[in-house]
Amino acid sequence: MDLKLKDKVFLINGATGGIGRAVCFALKAEGAKIALSGRDEKKVLALAEELSLGPDRLWTNVADVTCEDQVKEFVEGAIAHFGHIDSVLPNAGYEGKWEFASQMSKENYDKVFSTNVLGVMYMLKYGGEALAAQGHGSIVVTSSIGAVVGSPGMAIYCASKHAVQGLVKSVARELGPKGVNVNSVNPDGVYTPMLDRIGRNAMGDEMPIDDLRAALTGGCYDKRAATPEEVAYLILYFASPWASHIYGTKIVIDGANGDGETVRP
Ligand SMILES: NC(=O)c1ccc[n+]([C@@H]2O[C@H](COP(=O)([O-])OP(=O)(O)OC[C@H]3O[C@@H](n4cnc5c(N)ncnc54)[C@H](OP(=O)(O)O)[C@@H]3O)[C@@H](O)[C@H]2O)c1
Repeated sequence: MDLKLKDKVFLINGATGGIGRAVCFALKAEGAKIALSGRDEKKVLALAEELSLGPDRLWTNVADVTCEDQVKEFVEGAIAHFGHIDSVLPNAGYEGKWEFASQMSKENYDKVFSTNVLGVMYMLKYGGEALAAQGHGSIVVTSSIGAVVGSPGMAIYCASKHAVQGLVKSVARELGPKGVNVNSVNPDGVYTPMLDRIGRNAMGDEMPIDDLRAALTGGCYDKRAATPEEVAYLILYFASPWASHIYGTKIVIDGANGDGETVRP
């Protein structure tokens, strides 16, 4: 299937993480142009080297998504470099500390919400403004199954992803009539460093990594997490012209592990 992404300009942050990397390589395979952002310059440069694309196809940026001026510079810099943009992918995220209800802290709340909610909000603000001014484009937010169900020890993360869904639904209604599709992709476990950190937080450092991953994905019909590439291609589909009739919705990719909310076995 031709996703019709050749020469389209994509902005992605959190590009240096597991899903972000997979999106970048999928975009390269589809012939798209990539403006990638990460907060760690060394990781950004290493990823750019691996992607091995010329400046006509790749532009890099260093930004912390919690800083409005840095997100604004990312969007403006990408437009200045490529002349226009076609898709914005707010993808950076943080799982937070493992805290049960009696342990929940403002410190954790501030860090999780500033990354997951403020960070997405700024990308919707500046990316959405630019796309609406052009009269076309798409935004796909990497949300989570945590926007659909709750998870013990991760209430703050789940609350932040529920908030993300409110942003997606509302901004989709504002930007839809201006030619911009806003949607989200909502994974349960994905084989990335985040999944392993969540597992370690929940089950400690002693458990072998394979056992830990098996414990996290035991509820999936196929007894596994998603691969970053599976999530990446869902994101690319939602960003593509094939999804231009879809507004303000989410697609869950969870192996049916969504606590009975996503399917009823
Ligand atoms: N993996 C899963 O099981 C899973 C499940 C559901 C949803 N998700 C969502 O998928 C998205 C991508 O996560 P992932 O699985 O790829 O995890 P990951 O490998 O940990 O990557 C997270 C990325 O976000 C970046 N980031 C975090 N805080 C940031 C900040 N303040 N400013 C800029 N960048 C920041 C990280 O940068 P550094 O590399 O510098 O830390 C990293 O590039 C997240 O939104 C996450 O919530 C993941």
